[in-house]
Amino acid sequence: MKKFITVITICISVFGLQAQELTSPNGNLEMKFSLKENGTPAYQLFYKGEEVIKTSTLGLELQDDSTSLMNEFEISDTKTSSFDKIWTPVWGEQAKIRNHYNELAVTLDQPSTDRKMIIRFRMFNDGLGFRYEFPQQENLVYFIIKEEHTQFAMTGDHTAYWLPGDYDSQEYDYTTSKLSEISSKFDEAWVGNASQTQFSKSAVQTALMMKTEDGLYINLHEAALKEYSLMNLNLDENSLVFESWLTPDAIGNKGYIQAPAVSPWRTIMVSDDATDILASNITLNLNEPNKIEDTSWIKPMKYVGVWWEMITGKSTWNYTDEFPSVKLGETDFENAEPNGKHGANTAHVKEYIDFAAENGFDGVLVEGWNVGWEDWFGHSKDYVFDFVTPYPDFDVEGIQKYAESKGVQMIMHHETSGAIRNYERHLDTAYQFMNTYDYPAVKSGYVGDIIPRGEHHYGQWAINHFLYAVKKAADYHIMVNAHEAVRPTGLRRTWPNLIGNESARGTEFQAFGGSKPNHVTILPFTRLIGGPMDYTPGIFEMDISKINPDNNSHVNSTLANQLALYVTMYSPLQMAADLPENYKRFPDAFQFIKDVALDWDESKYIEAEPGEYITVARKAKGTENWFVGNVNGTTPRTSKIKLDFLEDGKKYEATIYADAKDADYKTNPQAYKITKKSVISKSTLKLTSAPGGGYAISIFEKE
Ligand code: NOJ
Ligand code: CA
Repeated sequence: MKKFITVITICISVFGLQAQELTSPNGNLEMKFSLKENGTPAYQLFYKGEEVIKTSTLGLELQDDSTSLMNEFEISDTKTSSFDKIWTPVWGEQAKIRNHYNELAVTLDQPSTDRKMIIRFRMFNDGLGFRYEFPQQENLVYFIIKEEHTQFAMTGDHTAYWLPGDYDSQEYDYTTSKLSEISSKFDEAWVGNASQTQFSKSAVQTALMMKTEDGLYINLHEAALKEYSLMNLNLDENSLVFESWLTPDAIGNKGYIQAPAVSPWRTIMVSDDATDILASNITLNLNEPNKIEDTSWIKPMKYVGVWWEMITGKSTWNYTDEFPSVKLGETDFENAEPNGKHGANTAHVKEYIDFAAENGFDGVLVEGWNVGWEDWFGHSKDYVFDFVTPYPDFDVEGIQKYAESKGVQMIMHHETSGAIRNYERHLDTAYQFMNTYDYPAVKSGYVGDIIPRGEHHYGQWAINHFLYAVKKAADYHIMVNAHEAVRPTGLRRTWPNLIGNESARGTEFQAFGGSKPNHVTILPFTRLIGGPMDYTPGIFEMDISKINPDNNSHVNSTLANQLALYVTMYSPLQMAADLPENYKRFPDAFQFIKDVALDWDESKYIEAEPGEYITVARKAKGTENWFVGNVNGTTPRTSKIKLDFLEDGKKYEATIYADAKDADYKTNPQAYKITKKSVISKSTLKLTSAPGGGYAISIFEKE
């Protein structure tokens, strides 16, 4: 393993119009950095000699500062170096990760203000990362960002898989269109949610996936988002230039910086093979190493929960329908009349614990266990939950003892309702409560507009909170799975107790009217680039009216597709989201969910095309067993896969859970076929996936 070696150090003190070049270790990618005549930094990116990012300028506009950090720069120093090291994640898609890049750090002086800024570029085989750095200095200490002006100039009218730009939500279906069509399709893409803020009809969110006419795949995202606001991208439709658009705070400012400081990394992945985007570790590699010394308490979990029944409307989070409003500590729940539909009652929770124990699940999530759900959202309510007071029918201690006796762990739920200030007030007590009752993990949630009012989910203030909650949880040995929080940017490397996030349109939307059938063929190229998603797969009953006659939603997926998601949507936290009674109806298919692993030694991305299909194989950690998943878009498709990832000379038994011949996500979603087959590394499999379908395969080594 090579150590950090400084290869060349060049000092240039003349006016900097010189181009600096940086290539990837394999030579496929090349970046050219230069200063324009007015001293504006610019870069250009090439893949295999072809331009993929046209000359794009870099810089930051500061509040109350006429010069800003935009131009009048001179290059005062450039340093190049190389890095090549392998590291071991606490959990992940693979046991070892190689961090291999060439680096160029350009120091820029601004003589008129006597200020300095560094732009650091890291070039990997699969893409480029760069960030702004503000070193300690006299004339740049505290400053406010008015806007970051980082450009990504596209070379053509690419196909994009995009979400509408928003300061508060990314719970949208993806729209696939040409770049030039974004603004005309924006209104159609913008569907209602509990908290949303629109700012430009040509804005999109990251990770943005694109495909060029020449078949190049380009992905724009960010890594290590800390003490900074989230970036959306705004497109100039005439020039096809994207520019960063940060999330403002309540008074319109976009970032408060105290030097020394760094911005998040801006990342550009490029390849002519879509599977390289899925396999890329750039986001993780640009984050700092693990900061948690003892990680023995951080463990992947497979769980069930008192959840889908509330999402579908069969039962309720609230205990009573008696109170139009609740005041914590004042409302008398003991004497209130129960509504008879409260999901989180002790007897029912025990049934879930039994089901979890019988089927080898690690945990049970229970939502609606604590008082406050009677008027929990939509009222900009500050003191909404205290996170420690159970409803009268939820026996915290009894449930804990019962779960322990069955070898199952309880998963806590903290819905904050966006009242972040209130959550922080209660955070220590809430985590202590979890320690007392042995809850190893919390699902937190941020539905609705943020309080303090005017702040956004993706502004610097909320972003600081999300990380604060994760760091504090680490002190209490608690794992965090945050819903409606900012999208992940690889921070799980530094804080591996951040085991999950939602931050996208999850399975819940299948019960709120449905998601597009190819949604899950795009998420791994976009949302999952930043980190795992608590997608909550495993729905076996697609007709939601069978659960709640008042809900006519249809789950746009076949049952085999639902199984495949445990492999294609990587996460160390996987839920079997459907009701136990639905699993009992299909015990042979449920077997795959029971068998599938959560943590992996290796992952092989076999074939992929955004919006169309993804096939992935993963080797379960510490075993010789493999699991394969294929998810398919709306066109039926036959894939031929080679099992050459299996070890030569070993014999395996494969169980294939595939769509039946007549399966279809809409008309016949529950038609599947299970076959068993002896396989070796030379075997190939030919399998057909239905519209919105797929297949899952478990491959166990024979004794
Ligand atoms: C939205 C979350 O995504 C969902 O999982 C949760 O049940 C509700 N909020 C209530 O907290
Ligand atoms: Ca959600």
